[in-house]
Amino acid sequence: MTIAGKAVLVTGGNRGIGRALVDEALGRGAARVYAGTLRPLTHPDERVTPLMLDVTDAAQIQAAAGHVESLDVLINNAGISLFDDLTDRAALERHLAVNFFGTYGVTQAFLPLLVRSRGAIVNNVSLNALAPLPLTPAYAVSKAAAFSLTQSLRALLAGQGVRVHAVLTGPVDTEMTRGLDIPKSPPESVARAIFDGVENDEEDIFPDPMSATLADGWRNGAAKAFERQMAAFVETEPAK
Ligand SMILES: NC(=O)c1ccc[n+]([C@@H]2O[C@H](COP(=O)([O-])OP(=O)(O)OC[C@H]3O[C@@H](n4cnc5c(N)ncnc54)[C@H](OP(=O)(O)O)[C@@H]3O)[C@@H](O)[C@H]2O)c1
Repeated sequence: MTIAGKAVLVTGGNRGIGRALVDEALGRGAARVYAGTLRPLTHPDERVTPLMLDVTDAAQIQAAAGHVESLDVLINNAGISLFDDLTDRAALERHLAVNFFGTYGVTQAFLPLLVRSRGAIVNNVSLNALAPLPLTPAYAVSKAAAFSLTQSLRALLAGQGVRVHAVLTGPVDTEMTRGLDIPKSPPESVARAIFDGVENDEEDIFPDPMSATLADGWRNGAAKAFERQMAAFVETEPAK
């Protein structure tokens, strides 16, 4: 997969990592970049098509899919993270609605286009899918669910030639981590590493120095070997 000449859609494309992904895709020569947003967006590059795309709104997802003729790379990036302590069921539901069902709904809507292009799905998950930060446990639950979704889609779609990547992102300097006094990576370098991972066909992408410390252990570990063993129950050779 090379980004040059391709059509890319980024949800939550107006700020943070999403905005950096839009700009990085343009820098790599994408032919068209769809930026999904909650509010109208303008972008100076004419290759950017803004799309009203609340990932929790089924009607908006369908309408957005109707505006896109062809798509090579879908990046499920939109997300929320709020402090909680698991005492409030509504907090869990809110995180699942955006981070899990949002990713699921957008993926299903754009899947026919991705099958046609033999494209790629890139889910911006989080290192918290592997281990929760107990300050944001509802967030971690939703990201663990999104990671599991990513792993199953990877196995289920392999036979149709669609690649499915998980991005196991560490702390990034965006609005989302404003309240956390920890070392953070710039969104621009994270966006670069995400597209490098897609272009190098890395299943699981560790796009920053903190997540990179876990990459070898994850890729060579028992859990990854077990994922492959489970996937073999449904995987077929990609169609030629
Ligand atoms: N920052 C980190 O340290 C970090 C670490 C690991 C993973 N991640 C993941 O990376 C992704 C981007 O995070 P970020 O740090 O860039 O966060 P951010 O700066 O808070 O941006 C979040 C983006 O998601 C959009 N969004 C929120 N709810 C939405 C909805 N219902 N429909 C569509 N868009 C929605 C926001 O739109 P508005 O601007 O309109 O609110 C915004 O564009 C998230 O999935 C996050 O979980 C971030």
